Amino acid sequence: MEPSVLGTLSYGMYAIGTKYRGVPNACIATAVMQIASGEPKKLLLALTEDTHSVAGVRENGLFTVSVLSTDTPASVIGALGLVSGRNTDKLRNIRHKVLLEGVPVIKENTCCWFLCKVTDVLDAGNEVIFVAEIIAGSDKAVGTPMSYFYYREHMHGLSPEGSPTYLPPKATFDETGGESFVCPVCGYVYKDPNFSFDELSDSWTCPVCKCRKSAFMRQTK
Ligand SMILES: Cc1cc2nc3c(=O)[nH]c(=O)nc-3n(C[C@H](O)[C@H](O)[C@H](O)COP(=O)(O)O)c2cc1C
Repeated sequence: MEPSVLGTLSYGMYAIGTKYRGVPNACIATAVMQIASGEPKKLLLALTEDTHSVAGVRENGLFTVSVLSTDTPASVIGALGLVSGRNTDKLRNIRHKVLLEGVPVIKENTCCWFLCKVTDVLDAGNEVIFVAEIIAGSDKAVGTPMSYFYYREHMHGLSPEGSPTYLPPKATFDETGGESFVCPVCGYVYKDPNFSFDELSDSWTCPVCKCRKSAFMRQTK
């Protein structure tokens, strides 16, 4: 089956706030879904087992969902979704608020947020599915929620290889220009026949979305 077939399923774009040993962290997830029409309201969240976020949710049984809007910068998605918080403070340059419970909500033009308490955990191989009750949240939503389709088609964003929604980057290899490298967040393509990608310093970042150099992917024909 071509990856684009699974890509026809609809997803939203969310920042998941957690804490591990008292330290707030956040990652990006598409796999969030409302499942109960009655009370209490419930959500499903699927995360990859080896993420730092899963360690935090398993430890505390709490997480937040911040609904990203079409105005949320690609750089925020790259900072939270392409780097693990295991050894880094990913929230350092991201506008956020830490709730009384110690878990963060993201304030980068997000539509709204929910605080969720885990009631059931389903281990599904490489993924963990958390069933959770919504115990608090925004009074109202603002802006337009970002869909995964919008992120891919309008922001030219990608998800990390191995994630459930991964689709390979569209080939834009320049036959005449030699090798090229693509930003996994915004799709910017670095191609310079006179100055190779390897020669850029390690601190170089994407000129469009500020994604780090080491996350760039070599494009093949
Ligand atoms: C667009 C996008 C969608 C993603 N969707 C998911 C997802 O649904 N589930 C998941 O576990 N990881 C998803 N990820 C990957 C995590 O955000 C990523 O592994 C992150 O580095 C985990 O950080 P942590 O180790 O601090 O928890 C997504 C990333 C991006 C950029």
